[in-house]
Amino acid sequence: MLEATTLGFKAPLEAALAAALAPIANTHLQAAMRYSVDAGGKRLRPLLLLAVVDSFGGSVKQALPAAAGLELLHTYSLIHDDLPAMDNDDLRRGRPTSHKRFGTAMAILAGDGLQAQAFAQVAAVTAAPGVVVQLLQALAQAAGPCGMVAGQVMDMDGEHHRLDLAALRRLQALKTGALIEAAVAMGGLLAGVTTTDTAALRAFAAHFGLAFQIQDDINDRTKTAAELGKTPNKDLAEAKATFPSLLGLAGAQAALAQEVAAARAALAGLSRPVPQLSAFLTYFE
Ligand code: IPE
Ligand code: IPE
Ligand code: MG
Ligand code: MG
Ligand code: MG
Repeated sequence: MLEATTLGFKAPLEAALAAALAPIANTHLQAAMRYSVDAGGKRLRPLLLLAVVDSFGGSVKQALPAAAGLELLHTYSLIHDDLPAMDNDDLRRGRPTSHKRFGTAMAILAGDGLQAQAFAQVAAVTAAPGVVVQLLQALAQAAGPCGMVAGQVMDMDGEHHRLDLAALRRLQALKTGALIEAAVAMGGLLAGVTTTDTAALRAFAAHFGLAFQIQDDINDRTKTAAELGKTPNKDLAEAKATFPSLLGLAGAQAALAQEVAAARAALAGLSRPVPQLSAFLTYFE
């Protein structure tokens, strides 16, 4: 999907991730944190951040610690999402989940460590102090109790009662959309994007984020463990509120197409062509 336009960002990003984890003195803890980060994943959020920076003439090199921080935060969220008390998953990024490999206590602590280290990375960005504070606020807002964590709470609640479409959209916007919106907003802050373009980027990110989670819900039903790197048909097993559970597969696909079209339209409203960002929409083809 993103390979053509963001290929050059991959190696520096991996180096920034490795550098972020290298100073952890406790070797058992470092191994647990690296286990989940090194397993890979699409690196969607950091690549999106870097693509925004590059599209608007910012410095990719300067943005790398922020991009790495975002991926550390996301990886923490996956470790905790998989815990027995949450989604109870055995497979993640093609490997046994953190708690399967290291035990539940260590998985919780590896997640805790990644979350704090994420903020340390963002704080290490070389930029005007006001910009760094805004980056930290954007990440805290997106990751915290008014963002992803609230979405995860709604997701857990959704296992027990049926949500309507409006509630499901709010859930998805929080649990997945918030971090994707933060990726785009942080890229915009680093590149000094104008207010008008910031509004269009925000709209793009909101539609992209929703599309991304609808696709994840569809993939859960339609793809294999080998393709997903995680266990398929888990949402049904856990009685999750998802787009396919509410609208059926065809309905979810129609909702996905609508969000992708809206994301594309938002990009068309920007003051400059952004082929690197348009390329992210090929993920949904
Ligand atoms: C998985 O995110 C969790 C969701 C929010 C859908 P990704 O699909 O980005 O997972 P990785 O990072 O590629 O493993
Ligand atoms: C996870 O959503 C969202 C977060 C980790 C915040 P899912 O539970 O659908 O993600 P997967 O399918 O396990 O990757
Ligand atoms: Mg979940
Ligand atoms: Mg899950
Ligand atoms: Mg899922």
